[in-house]
Amino acid sequence: MSDRYAVIGNPIEHSKSPQIHQGFAKQTKQDLIYEKIQSDDFVKTAQAFFAEGGKGLNITVPFKEAAFQFADKLSPIAKQAGAVNTLKKEVDGSIFGDNTDGIGLIRDLVQNNSCPLAQKNILILGVGGAARGVIPALFNENPAQITIANRTVEKATQLAQHFADLNLVACGYNELAGQYFDCIINATSASLTGDVPAIPKNIIKIGGLTYDMMYSIKPTAFVLWGRNTFASQSIDGLGMLVEQAAEAFYLWRGIRPETKDAIRLLRH
Ligand code: ATR
Repeated sequence: MSDRYAVIGNPIEHSKSPQIHQGFAKQTKQDLIYEKIQSDDFVKTAQAFFAEGGKGLNITVPFKEAAFQFADKLSPIAKQAGAVNTLKKEVDGSIFGDNTDGIGLIRDLVQNNSCPLAQKNILILGVGGAARGVIPALFNENPAQITIANRTVEKATQLAQHFADLNLVACGYNELAGQYFDCIINATSASLTGDVPAIPKNIIKIGGLTYDMMYSIKPTAFVLWGRNTFASQSIDGLGMLVEQAAEAFYLWRGIRPETKDAIRLLRH
């Protein structure tokens, strides 16, 4: 019988994860099934999945914190992030939790888009689960500084306190004027409603990069915003989606799939 994997979320209808993982399985000749599961009760759904022999789960909105609580063991990066996007059933039956979102973002920035982060000045917009999941991995790239800015300033301050060892600078959007960043990463959910966080336009350095962790068939509001700045590249999160999936696939199967074709296929 084929090994079973799935992505759990709510909503889940539009998830591209089954398409991505089925493509990886074909490419690497792995015998597996990958489904999508809509859930109202993460713990119940995940328990049933593993009890029925399931080998691994991807977790998406709004269950990444619940998956963090659910795991018996955690990778260091998941522990730091406080969120889990990949669960794996180990041979002893215990459940291991990891977070591959950060590595997915780093691979897309550094490898796919030639944007090294060492000694760079990075700005992250938003402080929800999306931001929290990628901050530890960004910090591991040795940037000069990571600034987190949020519409509600108090939440940015709280997040900086959560990551106290990482020396994050927290501020509100209006405090950004006069500063210059090599890379601005939009981790807010503003693009879902076609909005752009109210930040000044001239805070990206000439030749910098603007990155929206969201993606859609048409350019997102933030990608369009970035095109009207001094940034040389303004990209969406499709590459990150494929790269985080590849890392989860590697964790489960021990084989790292090639990602370029998957990104190209989804893009078109
Ligand atoms: P997720 O877990 O997906 O990151 P979340 O926890 O609801 O979602 O966080 C959403 C983030 O997007 C928050 O930082 C939110 O800002 P506030 O904390 O001020 O609410 C941000 N956000 C959502 N819509 C926004 C908008 N139109 N402009 C700016 N920020 C927005």
